[in-house]
Amino acid sequence: MNYEWFLFDLDGTLAESGAGILNSVRYALTQLGAEIPPEEEMRAFIGPPLLWSFQNVAHLPEETARRAVDLYRERYGREGWMETSIYPGVQELLRGIRRRGGKIALASAKPQGFCEKILAHFGLEKYFDRVSAISLTDHHPEKRDIILRALPEEADRARAVMVGDRVYDIEGALQAGVTPVAAGYGYGNPGEFDRAAAVARTPRDLWDVLVGEARDPGRMVTFEGVDGSGKSTQFHLAVDYFRTRGWDVLSSREPGGCPISEKVRELILDVANREMTPLCEAYLYAAARAQHVAQVLRPALREGKLVLCDRFLDSSIAYQAYGRELTEPLIRQINKPAVDGLEPDLTLVYALPAAEAKRRVAQNGAPDRLEIEGLDFVGRVQAGYDALAAAQPQRLIQVDSGRSIEAVFADTGRLISRLLA
Ligand code: ADP
Ligand code: TYD
Repeated sequence: MNYEWFLFDLDGTLAESGAGILNSVRYALTQLGAEIPPEEEMRAFIGPPLLWSFQNVAHLPEETARRAVDLYRERYGREGWMETSIYPGVQELLRGIRRRGGKIALASAKPQGFCEKILAHFGLEKYFDRVSAISLTDHHPEKRDIILRALPEEADRARAVMVGDRVYDIEGALQAGVTPVAAGYGYGNPGEFDRAAAVARTPRDLWDVLVGEARDPGRMVTFEGVDGSGKSTQFHLAVDYFRTRGWDVLSSREPGGCPISEKVRELILDVANREMTPLCEAYLYAAARAQHVAQVLRPALREGKLVLCDRFLDSSIAYQAYGRELTEPLIRQINKPAVDGLEPDLTLVYALPAAEAKRRVAQNGAPDRLEIEGLDFVGRVQAGYDALAAAQPQRLIQVDSGRSIEAVFADTGRLISRLLA
C-alpha cells in the first residue's frame, strides 16, 4: 500500500446517509414554516456544515438557520441517523487496510457523538484508530482542520490519503497536505473532483485506488435445515443485516441462483413429476449446482464478496443420501465435479423437531414435491444433518430453531460476525 494513514469522510463516502439527512432537513424546514428547496437543490445539504447549508441552500437568515440546525439534530438524533446503509464493500476495504498495517481515521463534519454512534451501530468502530469530527458548538469547522485533527502530530502527511465525496474534502485535503481521493459515487457534482488525485467510480473501486493489491478472497456461508425449519427467514434477515452494514453480499439459493439452474429447480419441485426417480433427482440437483458454482458462486468469491446461500451441497447429503437413502458416497461422487472443490466457510443448520417443521410448512400454502414427503422422510433428513454436524463440527453449526425469529437471529448474526472478524 502507498499510504500509512487512510482518512475517510462519512456521508457519501462510507455511508449512504442521504435519506436520513434530507428527511431531517425537511423536518426542520417544515417546523419553521420555511420553504423546502426543490429536490435537486436539496442534495447540496449532504456534506457541507449544516449551518452553511441552511443559510445558502435554504436561504435562511443566520438566527433562523441556527434554530433549523437544532431542529435537524433533534430528528436526526432520534431516527435520522439510522436511515443509513453502509456502501457495499466498505467492510472488506477497511478490514483489508487494517490487515495490511494501515491506520484508519474518520474525518467528518458531523458531530462526534453521531459519528461514533453510526460507526458502532454498523460494526465499523473496530477499524478506526481515530475519529475526528466536530463538537455540537463548533458551527464553522474548516475541513482542513478536521483532517489535521484526524492525524496524530507525528504522522507523515505525505503518506496520508483523504477520501471524500465533496469539493470540501478535496480542497481540505490539499490544504492539509494530504492526498485527496474522490468518492465519485457520493453526493458531489461533476467538477468537484478536478483536483483529486484519483476518482473512485464505485465504492468497490476504492480497493483498487487505495490498496492496489489482489482482493482478499471472499467468504461463503450456507443456510441449511429441513423444510419449515425457518432457514429462509434467517437467510433473508442475514442478507439485509450484512448488506446494510457494508458487506459486499452476494445472495443466492439452491436449487437455482441463475437462469439455467432456476429452470432445473422448476423441474425438480414440480409436483406433477411424480415418477421422477431418486437418482434422476440427485443428478438434477447436482446439474443445477454445477452451473451455479461456475456462473455465480466462484466468480463472487473471487471478487472478495460475502456469499450467503440458501442451501448447498449439504442439502443433497441430507435429502438425497439420508432422505432418499441413496448413500453418502454416491451423492458425494455425483457432486464432486459440480462443486469443484468449493466448500462453505460456515454452514448454519436450523434444527427443529420434524413435527413442528411440518406444522410450519402446512401454514405456508401449497407444498412442493419434496414438502409433500411424510414425517419419516423429514426425520431422516434431520438425522442426515445431525451426522454432518457431528462429522464437521468446525464448519456446520446447529442452531436451535424452536425459538422466536429474533432469538434465532441473534445466533445467526453472532456466528456469521465471528467468521468475518
Ligand atoms: P424454510 O426455509 O426452512 O422452509 P421458512 O423460513 O420459510 O422455512 O419458515 C417456514 C414458516 O415458519 C414461515 O411461515 C415462517 O414465517 C415461519 N417461521 C420462521 N421462523 C420461525 C420461528 N422462529 N418461529 C415461528 N415461526 C417461524
Ligand atoms: P428450498 O427452496 O430451500 O425450499 P424451502 O425454502 O421451502 O425449504 O429447497 C427446495 C427443496 O429442495 C427443499 O425441499 C430441499 C430440496 N433440496 C434437496 O433435496 N437437495 C438439494 O441438494 C437441495 C439444494 C435442495
